[in-house]
Amino acid sequence: MMKHALGLGGSYIYRIVWVFFVLVTSVRSQDAEVMNILKDMINAPISFQWTDPDICKWKHIVCDSTKHVTSIQIGNQNLQGSLPKELEKLTRLESFECQSNSLAGSFPYLSKSLRKLRIRGNMFNFIPNDFFKGMSNLQDVRIDDNPFPQWQVPESLKDCVSLRTFSAQNVGFIGTIPDFFGSDGPFPGLVYLALSGNYLEGALPASLSGSPIENLLVNGQHSNFKLNGTIAVLQNMTSLKQVWVNGNSFTGPIPDLSHHDQLVDLNLRDNQLTGVVPPSLTSLQSLKVVNLTNNFLQGPPPMFRDGVQVDNIIDRRRNQFCTNMLGQPCNALVNVLLSIVETLGYPLEFAKNWQGNDPCANKWIGIVCYNENISVINFQNMGLTGTISPSFVKLQSVTKLLIANNGLTGTIPIELTSMPLLKELDASNNQLYGKVPSFRKDVVLKLNGNPDIGNDKPISPSTSSSSNNINSERNTEKIVGVVVGIIILLGLVVLLVVKFKKKLKHRGKVQNPTTIVVHPRHYENGSPAMTSITSGGEGNIATLISPMRNTYQVEVGNMLISIKVLREVTNNFSENNILGKGGFGIVYKGELQDGTKIAVKRMQLGLVDEKGLSEFMSEIAVLTKVRHKHLVALLGYCLEENERLLVFEYMPQGALSVHLFNWKREGLKPLEWKPRLGIALDVARGVEYLHGLTQQIFIHRDLKPSNILLGDDMRAKVSDFGLVRHAPDGKTSVQTRLAGTFGYMAPEYAATGRLTTKVDVYSFGVILMEMITGRKALDNNLPEEDVLLAAWFRRMLQNKDSFLTMIDPTIEVDEETLHSISIVAELAGHCCARDPCQRPDMSYVVNVLSPLIEVWRPTDQPEVDDIYGINFDVTLPEALKRWQAFEGRNSLDLTYSDSSMHPSGNNTNSNI
Ligand SMILES: *[C@@H]1O[C@H](CO)[C@@H](O)[C@H](O)[C@H]1NC(C)=O
Ligand SMILES: *[C@@H]1O[C@H](CO)[C@@H](O)[C@H](O)[C@H]1NC(C)=O
Ligand SMILES: *[C@@H]1O[C@H](CO)[C@@H](O)[C@H](O)[C@H]1NC(C)=O
Ligand SMILES: *[C@@H]1O[C@H](CO)[C@@H](O)[C@H](O)[C@H]1NC(C)=O
Repeated sequence: MMKHALGLGGSYIYRIVWVFFVLVTSVRSQDAEVMNILKDMINAPISFQWTDPDICKWKHIVCDSTKHVTSIQIGNQNLQGSLPKELEKLTRLESFECQSNSLAGSFPYLSKSLRKLRIRGNMFNFIPNDFFKGMSNLQDVRIDDNPFPQWQVPESLKDCVSLRTFSAQNVGFIGTIPDFFGSDGPFPGLVYLALSGNYLEGALPASLSGSPIENLLVNGQHSNFKLNGTIAVLQNMTSLKQVWVNGNSFTGPIPDLSHHDQLVDLNLRDNQLTGVVPPSLTSLQSLKVVNLTNNFLQGPPPMFRDGVQVDNIIDRRRNQFCTNMLGQPCNALVNVLLSIVETLGYPLEFAKNWQGNDPCANKWIGIVCYNENISVINFQNMGLTGTISPSFVKLQSVTKLLIANNGLTGTIPIELTSMPLLKELDASNNQLYGKVPSFRKDVVLKLNGNPDIGNDKPISPSTSSSSNNINSERNTEKIVGVVVGIIILLGLVVLLVVKFKKKLKHRGKVQNPTTIVVHPRHYENGSPAMTSITSGGEGNIATLISPMRNTYQVEVGNMLISIKVLREVTNNFSENNILGKGGFGIVYKGELQDGTKIAVKRMQLGLVDEKGLSEFMSEIAVLTKVRHKHLVALLGYCLEENERLLVFEYMPQGALSVHLFNWKREGLKPLEWKPRLGIALDVARGVEYLHGLTQQIFIHRDLKPSNILLGDDMRAKVSDFGLVRHAPDGKTSVQTRLAGTFGYMAPEYAATGRLTTKVDVYSFGVILMEMITGRKALDNNLPEEDVLLAAWFRRMLQNKDSFLTMIDPTIEVDEETLHSISIVAELAGHCCARDPCQRPDMSYVVNVLSPLIEVWRPTDQPEVDDIYGINFDVTLPEALKRWQAFEGRNSLDLTYSDSSMHPSGNNTNSNI
């Protein structure tokens, strides 16, 4: 019996052990299998010593006691390649770190056991939207600086209930900051939230109120996006240690920060904040660094405690402090007026206008003076919200108080009845309520258009402090918002439909053909490009199929210009009209009947081979898609007979190369530093735009001074898009046929043909070097080791004395200039870093350059949309005129107006 049992048991045990063994080994070998795939795909270097059959002995790998991989740490290893999707099969993986490499491709799903994810500074161009689904252990996420296509902060993140750190700067986020980051949201432990350098817009969500977040970094959203609204929510985020909201469009005052006893670093610069810097901030004991530059702050210039690092608040741009002396109080009258606008939330319109310390002498908006006393307050029709301040009573000389046609709420303060000289109070058409206090008989009261005036209890209560009321108010606001939103949306849809219909109609009218199909064989025998013309009902979309089988869709409309017209305006392509000769043709100057000038680029006959044609089509395809004030605008083109011509706006001052290198020969004056800097910024903005386009990323590939053209105002535009490639479908790295110019070509591109936006950054760096030194990118007259400017420059930069000698002798160098040059020199070096990942992106470049350029006057206008609205459904001269009018009208605020940008948090990752 016993024996029998044993025997039976023995065989069971044997089987169980065997099954267990198989299981363990198969699991173990699965991890090993995955690791070997990884090893191949990232080309693991010899130094990793990933050779042992036991993967748990590999460097950078940690296993648990069951020999499962729990940690992979391969950051900062210069790795290239991509990650296998098999990584998901590492079922016990807790930590995956591969930051600062050049890994590309899709980022794979990983096990739900993951706790730590650090992948910043790579070339990953995709991460699944539901990557975070079910990742309830994930605590630490840092995915910054990857070229992901534009996406929204993913909903799946909500599953990461253990989240403590979420750092996603420069990852292409669009839309608004979702409202789930607050303490009531799914991550009660979140302390680090970094969303800088994205395309986020809208407000800081109110749900952040009360959250335990310690580091909040949302600075430097890309231009045309920007966060807005007030920063009032910071008041209730009392755990904050570091706040970077700079480089956005926030408005309203700095909130009370008296409970922020851990706040060390507060960066508010480059916004549109208004109001008086609160004493709760200046007296904050924990504070070490504060940046306030470039807002519309008012009142006395704040004086911080000793030891607090403050940026240069006073004499740089926009802030509207009443004096230039730190801590010096404002005039009493100024203080009264500031306290009056306090209850209105310090409206921007006042803040922009109210300069200096004397409202009467400086003619402050809304204030009318008589004999240096304020006699009339006229705040009518200013869109004001908030309540009427009792401080009006301190303006004893006021006879008329006019605050009609706004959105003011609350009651009429009883204090106003004691204004001795008051003759008229016009508060009509607001949302005032409550009992009207009794004024003297001779005061004219105008209160019509306030539905609730006289009622003790207004219909929509907003006096009470009970949270119920606040909530219901919020809800009504929400509902109103939604309704308004829907109405606006409907309006937009109707508008679009109408526009679309118009367009269709218009297209129907176009007299000429519609679909142009170009067959490859026709290039071979050199016959005209336009071969078969079919009249499709599709409107005037021309599909041009180049021999390389790339299909370009080109909107033609009235951009097609006949060769006859172009012959006329260029004097039959007269020698005298030649502006320059480029790689693929000659550029002629043309003059329309009304005197406006154009530039006509004509492909050289005979050069219109496959390559030339494809280049030509590429240029048209790109130019019709991109419009930017720092990119030379295409006005039309011609594809007739043997001819291929492009018509551009005329840039009277020609190429930058002439001004840098051939100025003497051309009888020009050498460029001073300031215009060089302005040109650099213009170019950076143009290229930033190309790189940052929503649908596709464009890479110029041939940036150089001869492709940078100048207008009479010495503002620059980038031209010559013949070599531009767009990265297909959001991919940011493409392998291409090599094209470009030696001396400007990034080493990795020259070596491998691997094309990323960083190729342009490199070329831009070389251009900066040329601007600083006046030396050409390639100078064969110099000794071997100095031929290449980039290499020489890098060597010279290393020591201070040689740095001084390399500056172009024609630049007048004073201390300020030197400072500026040294920053640009460093930037140039940075842009030309050998490792493309080390190079900044263009928006960073813009952020470094823009503060270097002084702004001479405050800009009242909001930032202008960077994209021109040129309508080509009009004749060429008409289009030109309109477009020029557009440029002229905006020339003032285009002048460095958006210097509100700021270095985004590139150095916030130092702790990785
Ligand atoms: C904030 O920006 C959004 C769009 O980006 C806009 O719709 C909204 O009106 C702006 N809000 C304020 C307060 O300016
Ligand atoms: C701050 O919190 C208080 C109390 O919870 C609330 O009444 C107030 O509205 C909050 N303020 C902001 C700006 O969120
Ligand atoms: C903020 O101000 C500090 C102190 O002056 C300065 O060192 C720092 O560069 C400034 N930061 C930014 C982003 O402007
Ligand atoms: C108006 O100003 C003058 C001096 O500028 C002063 O003497 C007078 O008292 C002021 N009047 C009022 C009503 O404040």
